[in-house]
Amino acid sequence: MKVIATSGQKGGCGKTTVAFHLAHYFTDRGQTVGLIDLDPQATATKVAGLRDAERPHLPVVPATAATLAATIAEAEGDGVDVLVIDCPPHATVGLAAALRRADLLLLPFSPTTPDLLTAGTVAELVGEVGKPALAILSRVKARSASAEDARRHLESVGLRVADTQVSDLNDFATALNDGLAVGEFAPKGKAAREIRALGKEVEALLS
Ligand SMILES: Nc1ncnc2c1ncn2[C@@H]1O[C@H](COP(=O)(O)OP(=O)(O)OP(=O)(O)O)[C@@H](O)[C@H]1O
Ligand SMILES: [Mg+2]
Repeated sequence: MKVIATSGQKGGCGKTTVAFHLAHYFTDRGQTVGLIDLDPQATATKVAGLRDAERPHLPVVPATAATLAATIAEAEGDGVDVLVIDCPPHATVGLAAALRRADLLLLPFSPTTPDLLTAGTVAELVGEVGKPALAILSRVKARSASAEDARRHLESVGLRVADTQVSDLNDFATALNDGLAVGEFAPKGKAAREIRALGKEVEALLS
């Protein structure tokens, strides 16, 4: 079982959006997927709960620091191929435990100063955990020059940055209203194309 964890220090940078969409990406690729929701806000759990019953089931299991190890073991016992763990913002005991079992850490950053100010701390954490990590530029606005600066900044603190950027697009927000991934909501749209490209990058790093 491959384990991916989305994490980072800042709230609202796109951790749950990336986690939810990668869970859908791997489901679409025929993998058995599990999504563990470590965030007490339970965003991923609530979003998945909005899905129409006729849609492919995206199993989301809420967990806490105390139940995480057992929840991961259960997923493995259930034959999950790809387990995605959506972490809350800020480093917590639960986050550290999730990171230890992860094969790959995904670290979304919006290309804004408050997000980028956390890059050094995130890079230190990644170094301490010693796991492969991929920073992802997320919520990138059209015609913004800041994404290239942000990429350089993330690289300067030692983070590897995904080639694929996730743009700030209405499809991401609108699709979630019905618990849908953008690949279901608008499969030919730019958002869906970006997620497929990101999924391929992540898949390559896991293999
Ligand atoms: N690429 C995007 N384009 C447009 N809206 C986005 C994008 N990514 C995220 N959002 C919106 O931004 C908000 C925050 O996103 P999300 O919940 O994924 O962030 P988060 O990092 O998980 O937040 P938290 O730290 O609170 O868990 C949501 O309303 C989401 O729909
Ligand atoms: Mg979240």
